[in-house]
Amino acid sequence: MSSRGNFSSRIGFILAAAGSAVGLGNIWKFPFEVADGGGAAFVLIYLIFAFILCFPVMVTEVAIGRKTEKNPIGAFNDLGFKKWNIIGKLGILCGVLILSFYNVVAGWAFGYFIEMIAGNFGVGKVFGSFTSDIIKVGGYAIVFMFATAFIVSRGVSGGIEKLAKILMPTLIIMILSLVVYSFTLPNALEGVKYYLVPDLSKLTNVNTIGGALRQAFFSLSLGMGALITYGSYLSKSENIISSSALITLFDVGIAFIAGLMMFPLVAYNLGGEMNDVQGGAGLIFVTLPGVFETLGSTLGVVVGGFFFLLLSFAALTSTVSLLEVPVSYVVDEYKVRRSRAVVIMSLVIFIIGIPSLIGNGYSDFFSNAFALPGGSSDFMTLVGYITDVLLMFGGFLIVSFAAYVWKKENLAIEISQGYPGFKESFVKKFLDFSISYLCPVVLGVLFIIVVLNNFFGINLLG
Ligand code: TRP
Repeated sequence: MSSRGNFSSRIGFILAAAGSAVGLGNIWKFPFEVADGGGAAFVLIYLIFAFILCFPVMVTEVAIGRKTEKNPIGAFNDLGFKKWNIIGKLGILCGVLILSFYNVVAGWAFGYFIEMIAGNFGVGKVFGSFTSDIIKVGGYAIVFMFATAFIVSRGVSGGIEKLAKILMPTLIIMILSLVVYSFTLPNALEGVKYYLVPDLSKLTNVNTIGGALRQAFFSLSLGMGALITYGSYLSKSENIISSSALITLFDVGIAFIAGLMMFPLVAYNLGGEMNDVQGGAGLIFVTLPGVFETLGSTLGVVVGGFFFLLLSFAALTSTVSLLEVPVSYVVDEYKVRRSRAVVIMSLVIFIIGIPSLIGNGYSDFFSNAFALPGGSSDFMTLVGYITDVLLMFGGFLIVSFAAYVWKKENLAIEISQGYPGFKESFVKKFLDFSISYLCPVVLGVLFIIVVLNNFFGINLLG
């Protein structure tokens, strides 16, 4: 085990896993999904899904990883179910695809940090020309991939864990200061109302329900074996249940707080007219620079720079987790040195990401050739749609595997290490029920609904 590396402490594991979870998904995507999904109704469903569906998937992933001390493909082989390693294969593919475009957006975030500290607030109005400036965004994407590769090459405790221990507390302080600040702006309350008072008529909308589950899966880094991998570095003496609960709370908490920061800023920008909220990628990259501009040149630079630095930090602890998955696979199964595995995988992933990089304006083809029912036609959106459904499908397979193939008793034995009272606990009853019935049914059904909606424009929920 020591040759693979491991987390040096419980808090190190929790912060690293929370670092994986907290990312662009929370700060960039969550607020605009809320706006697209109809405000507070989306938030409500999101919270329910996170605790009753996602938390059990997380526990299962961590337990499989810790039991086998392997990457997501090796883990299924190790348990004696070679056929089921298809879950790991799909997972690693999915992780590679996610990182290929995630790194591009992370590069934008970092690029905006540079623009903000240079006082170039106008960049929001020309977001399209920013993303088509291939020299700039290409450069930022390279920088970001390089930083990710550097951390991962330093290993689990010396790289990933250390980074999380520094960046996660920093991130909390930064985001809380931004919340406090945004509450001081005019119309802040209008924003908060939009965010927190649900419009119940939106509860049956497919964008609300399917979107909330997709978002919860993505945000918690579930369904592709990232947490199998992190679990494989976790000590047998740690309590998987309480650790997973903390990670879920942490992630949901940060997403929630990110909304509290964002909607007052948006309300301020719209003069309180929340009906005019525009969702989509632009919520952060288009709207916010305008907000920072109105703060004047000094304060704008500070607050704006702060915000995009925060976003870059959050992204970095996520990109390292995405890169770690294929790296652990290559290290375990092909006995390749970690540093070499990192170089190979980051290069491959960067190359796979080129269509996403140039598909935001620079290349006409990759920007427009992939017409999707939602109205987008760029390559990156397509890959995002594919990976979203792969994650839900992966989650469905993982819980079904644990409940019916590996069996709940074996799962319980693994969880009991580090939590001796588990077998008699209420958590066990809830977990068993969730992974045997609730998760397979809801994930299976919503998987079909989201596939029909995303790829065929068919809306079953009306
Ligand atoms: N959860 C991260 C976010 O919210 C993204 C991420 C990192 C991820 N690792 C993952 C998503 C693994 C799915 C699977 O930004």
